[in-house]
Amino acid sequence: MSKTVLLAGGAGYIGSHTAIELIDKGYKAVIADCHYNSNPIVYERLKEITGTDIPHYNIDVCDENALNRVFEENNIDVVIDFAGYKAVGESVREPMKYYKNNLNSTFSLVNTMERHGVSNIIFSSSATVYGMNNPSPLTEDMNLGPCTNPYGWTKFMNEEILRDLSAANEELSVVLLRYFNPIGAHSSGLIGEDPKDIPNNLMPYIAQVASGKLEILSVFGNDYDTHDGTGVRDYIHVVDLAKAHVLAADYASEHKGVEAFNIGTGVGYSVLDIVKAFERVNNLTIPYKITERRPGDIATCYADSSKAEKILGWKAEKNLEDMCRDTWNWQSKNPEGYK
Ligand code: UFG
Repeated sequence: MSKTVLLAGGAGYIGSHTAIELIDKGYKAVIADCHYNSNPIVYERLKEITGTDIPHYNIDVCDENALNRVFEENNIDVVIDFAGYKAVGESVREPMKYYKNNLNSTFSLVNTMERHGVSNIIFSSSATVYGMNNPSPLTEDMNLGPCTNPYGWTKFMNEEILRDLSAANEELSVVLLRYFNPIGAHSSGLIGEDPKDIPNNLMPYIAQVASGKLEILSVFGNDYDTHDGTGVRDYIHVVDLAKAHVLAADYASEHKGVEAFNIGTGVGYSVLDIVKAFERVNNLTIPYKITERRPGDIATCYADSSKAEKILGWKAEKNLEDMCRDTWNWQSKNPEGYK
């Protein structure tokens, strides 16, 4: 019998790509999403790609009564918690919004899981939990925090809450996936990242400059201690990241306790490396200017993902060229996103 995975917040960028990979590996997917940061058109696109009508619920995951119905109507084996706000700058301006939503959605999920005897949860964590002071490559055994913004603290706190729950209940299986910088899109160009407003992140910003929607990229600082002075990050193709969730679902079903995994490529690229690769791969010019550093940014952040390789059997397969090509394929086919 195939297992059923509930993707909470699963209509978004990472969730939608994960749904495809789960179905490809024989899982059944169910999505719960209030579309705060996603578009219901994604279900049609997912049907085009997978040939499957994915059951979906337009609910707020924080609403425990609504979530309870999802569990009543589906035989859930594994939960993936993608639900949460993710704009770093907004979290600094409106911290309560982030603490309330990002913690309550996880509370609601774990309460409902307990009520229905579901014991496997995969949590969308972030490299941001490593804080300001750890040197790259980052390994899972490093001390966590201090985080530089409320968004990061919600990831840190949810990790800690899930760790405490796992210590109190030996039946529970918790997998913490610490994402590095997901970019790229499904090769069909049917789904991809569709930022709500002006993008905060580098790659969607570049994509919108390329399409003429935005005028010029601001490169936030060129005086960091890196090979060209601009910030270095570990960019990972969203399809590789999606595949890590499938392996995490397999793993969670067979193991108890809590495990954290870095999901990155282990390679760091600077902002200017990304700009140049995007220009070269897509035969475009990206106008840019150097501006002030963005508060809270660190010079360098990349993963040691050998634990994920050893234990989950996961390794990133796609390279920077794939990421640049697939981002532009999605952006050029959907200049207004899903609208
Ligand atoms: N950058 C620019 N110009 C832009 C946007 C970004 O120069 O318009 C630079 C940043 O300064 C940084 C790099 O591009 O050096 C990457 O920035 P992103 O905003 O794309 O990504 P971050 O590494 O800052 O943040 C990401 C996720 C967070 C997560 C964090 C974990 O967006 O959710 O990684 O390290 F918390």
